[in-house]
Amino acid sequence: MCGIIGILGKAPVTPLLVEALKRLEYRGYDSAGVATLVNGHIERRRAEGKLVNLEARLVKEPLPGIIGIGHTRWATHGKPSERNAHPIATDRVAIVHNGIIENFQELKDELLAEGRRFESDTDTEVVAQLLTSYLEHQMSPEEAMGNAMGHLRGAFALVALFSGRHDILMGARRGSSLAVGYGDGEMYIGTDALALAPFTSRVSYLEDDDWVVLKTDGATVYQGTQKVKRPIKKSGLSGALMGKGNHQHFMLKEIHEQPAVIGDTLHSYLDPATRSVRLPAMPLDWSKVSRVTMTACGTAFYACMVAKYWFEKLARMPVEIEVASEFRYREPPLPEGGVCIAVSQSGETIDTLEALRYAQSQKQTLLSVVNVPESAIARLSHVVLLTQAGPEIGVASTKAFTTQLIVLLAAAIAAGRARGTLSREEEERLALAMIELPARVNETLNMEEDYRRIAENTLAAARDVLYIGRGSSFPVALEGALKLKELSYIHAEGYAGGEMKHGPIALIDDAVPVVVVAPTDAIFDKIASNFEQVRARGGRLVLLSDKAGVARLGAKAETSIMVPDIDPIVAPILYTVAVQLLAYYTALAKGTDIDQPRNLAKSVTVE
Ligand code: G6P
Repeated sequence: MCGIIGILGKAPVTPLLVEALKRLEYRGYDSAGVATLVNGHIERRRAEGKLVNLEARLVKEPLPGIIGIGHTRWATHGKPSERNAHPIATDRVAIVHNGIIENFQELKDELLAEGRRFESDTDTEVVAQLLTSYLEHQMSPEEAMGNAMGHLRGAFALVALFSGRHDILMGARRGSSLAVGYGDGEMYIGTDALALAPFTSRVSYLEDDDWVVLKTDGATVYQGTQKVKRPIKKSGLSGALMGKGNHQHFMLKEIHEQPAVIGDTLHSYLDPATRSVRLPAMPLDWSKVSRVTMTACGTAFYACMVAKYWFEKLARMPVEIEVASEFRYREPPLPEGGVCIAVSQSGETIDTLEALRYAQSQKQTLLSVVNVPESAIARLSHVVLLTQAGPEIGVASTKAFTTQLIVLLAAAIAAGRARGTLSREEEERLALAMIELPARVNETLNMEEDYRRIAENTLAAARDVLYIGRGSSFPVALEGALKLKELSYIHAEGYAGGEMKHGPIALIDDAVPVVVVAPTDAIFDKIASNFEQVRARGGRLVLLSDKAGVARLGAKAETSIMVPDIDPIVAPILYTVAVQLLAYYTALAKGTDIDQPRNLAKSVTVE
């Protein structure tokens, strides 16, 4: 969702602003813009749609200036259009903003009563107008920003450029992320270290309610009127623009990175010599934990669903899972001695962050599984279990999900060991199954053409597709359906196989493919019955199973793929790769925007 960059430089900044915006594209957006100071006046170029439109605009109307701000916008208030694109400006100040100003209507009414005229439909414009009003009442930019912070409600990150002030940029954050980059006589501010990486590796992260004044020689951070210090850290991110390698899309590249990143994550959580899991030291004793509560959004929520099976089976622990946006407003009582696990690739998803805050208020031990170590969720947690997925650019999560599963399985095994519910032999067997995964994922990727064939012949022309699975394959069915709808815009639903007869079976006809996720596990016979029920009604079956499963049901399916044999406990990870490939190749056949599907954002920083 919205990306922010600001540069206080020595040379023309517009090309650098655009370069940084390209690095923020992955977050999802529907318009973009930049503003600089030209002879002390704010000048803007904005365009609806992708950055190429803004670049074309800049070719026709170049934008000089050595100080500037840039933005990619994911519309919340006001449709995506040039008029609503950021920077939003008055003649005194230009603003780029991520998040939502929740009391914007109240503030807007007050500002309208003062006689101010609004030009856009955005909530952001109240910030620009509020600051302008303060500046016109003779406040300095610093006083204006400090004052504004006291009046704005909601979650946001902001950067402001002031007319006539070549010497300062200002930023503020509450909820949404914002990082300050330190250069040599130049300063930067942006959504994340990834955006700043081409310019500097010296980065500090603002905390909630911080506001900051950037000058060429450094940054001063405030909380209210108090100066505060935020440590400068060294970011290890590369400044090179991330490439797709030989792949047509980031998503395909990331699907193909899975054997490597699963291996890297295993390396952190597993000792191959002793075949045992190793977790970092934790301020918790699994044997005393009363309950595990897991919460997340989107694909990460399905990781929680799979993990519930693992924690219950291996550690015999009560586990509650819920999507973060519902969990926090339900305000459930959480028992003393409980652990709350938040799962998030970005570590910035606002609903997940707020759900974790709720768990904090209920005195839970906070554990997070994240891919970004400096993220807000990581910083709030008592224990951070990092996935080693590397930057994920495709909006639809792939390698982050499978590495989340690795971490969660390691945690479930550690819990089982601590609680005495898992024998040493069992742990060794599970460790071996995990160690085998990168090779089995590789074999799956080597069968890509089979997935492409099914996608082209069976799925791409469908209007609706059902996915079914049982046990830990049920969340895989949900993930398969989510991926397909996100990427190809085909309506898809996932169901627990046993639920088919309670409704979805009414949809079965010769136009609705049903993808059956069916590793041969303890309940294979049950999914086989559900398969037969669909077949008896003339349904078009796509079977994903192993050698034994395909031998048993393959001839009865319209089409089937043999997934490599694997221990059922890690099957959800391997079968996830299979459903990713089906979704990818279906979208490819349909010609949709795979890396940035319409209306979606990668890092969802608004409720
Ligand atoms: C968005 C992305 C999904 C992701 C979800 C949660 O919807 O498109 O791929 O699963 O956010 O994101 P998180 O960063 O918290 O894992």
